Amino acid sequence: MFEEMGWSPTLTWLRWGPKHQLHRKVLQPPFTKAKVGQHMALQRKEALVCCKGMMDQPVDWVNSVRRFSVAVVLKIAYGLEVDGPSSPWIQMADDTANAVGKSGAPASSIMDRLPATRHLPDWLPFMERLRYARTWRPAIEKLTRLPFEASLRQIDSGADNQSFVHTRMAIWNENAQKGVANDFDLDDIKGAAATIVIAGNDTTAATVMLLVLYLMQNPDVQRKAQTEVDEVVGSKRLPHWDDIPNLPYMNLVLQETYRMNPLSPLGIPHASIADDVYNGMSIPKETIVYPNVWAMCHVESVYAEPFRFWPERYLPREKGGNGEPLPVGNFGFGRRICIGKHLAENSLLIVLALLLATVDIDWPVGADGKPEPFEPEWSFRGQAIVLPFKASVTSRSARSKDLLDDEVRALEHRQG
Ligand code: HEM
Repeated sequence: MFEEMGWSPTLTWLRWGPKHQLHRKVLQPPFTKAKVGQHMALQRKEALVCCKGMMDQPVDWVNSVRRFSVAVVLKIAYGLEVDGPSSPWIQMADDTANAVGKSGAPASSIMDRLPATRHLPDWLPFMERLRYARTWRPAIEKLTRLPFEASLRQIDSGADNQSFVHTRMAIWNENAQKGVANDFDLDDIKGAAATIVIAGNDTTAATVMLLVLYLMQNPDVQRKAQTEVDEVVGSKRLPHWDDIPNLPYMNLVLQETYRMNPLSPLGIPHASIADDVYNGMSIPKETIVYPNVWAMCHVESVYAEPFRFWPERYLPREKGGNGEPLPVGNFGFGRRICIGKHLAENSLLIVLALLLATVDIDWPVGADGKPEPFEPEWSFRGQAIVLPFKASVTSRSARSKDLLDDEVRALEHRQG
């Protein structure tokens, strides 16, 4: 299905094999725990802009979150900047997310089961997914081409940055000059750069939206996490990277967010590459296996009251917790586990720390001035994503607002 949509060569959709291994070999090293440290300044800067955007335009708070997640991955992949909420790159990334989000659960189309059906006419009955794939194909090809071309123009104009495209193009050019064959060709660079945006944008934005939702629904958790931030950071500055390890409760808020709503509740399906036996069950070669991450995160024998947002559950009993294990599966499993986990986690932790330090998140207020609780709406097409919802976002104090304004102004001044 995804190949028919025009995605390949994109790591996420490549089948296991030499091409996948080559892409993984190129894409994994820049995103190890040690290497993602180089993006921390970028992530904190964009997180500050996000918090200020949410504070200044609370009605459109979701746009600030979208801008944040796009700005981080676009810069890392292509060296491109998102200059404002109406940047065309945000629309581009949203279109991509839409195309993926509405294409149904991975590996569930007739084309995944019977690859030859890809070549059938799409007006035949039961071929809606093929029609969908072909409708999106030109748009997706454009989405992978335009930022790549913009990045190449940057290189031509002499701009030098550490983005993925710039780094890979330097290697490509050097090989070409020496007459050495480039096994990672231009199409591979284009696809791999797009992968960073496709895989890293919507997932991060969707998780920030979940954080906002759970903080809004659980004011006691929000106050406790804010108190922790206040005690560690004080009132004279905003949180920095050094503070993150000293905020254990806040870290558990993120873990509990992963558990409450894993974005891919049935994971990304993997096909077995050989006959296997698991727990006495026979799994023939080429069986498509869906890991039921949702069940793993909600099974009552492991997680008491699984639908309660309760970050303390992971603490040992003597510290008032329930000694439950941290959730697994939100980032997948095995040799196809998410390569962006450390990058994503850093984005989420720094934006969460800054949000806790600077804003109060509450239910939206009605015309009568009273909070109006509601049930949010969800999309379950392949991924479980909360749809944009209203929230009241207000600055915690004049002091926190000043600190945020000052930091963002200083950043703009440095850039300008
Ligand atoms: C909260 C944010 C994120 C979540 C929840 C998430 C989740 C996932 C999941 C469930 C998979 C499938 C793993 C499997 O097949 O078992 C995956 C794969 C992948 N993710 Fe992420 N991801 C996130 C952020 C990112 C970021 C920021 C990047 C950017 C570098 C990224 C890059 C990838 C890539 C390239 C793959 C495909 C790996 C492969 O097939 O070999 N992800 N992610």
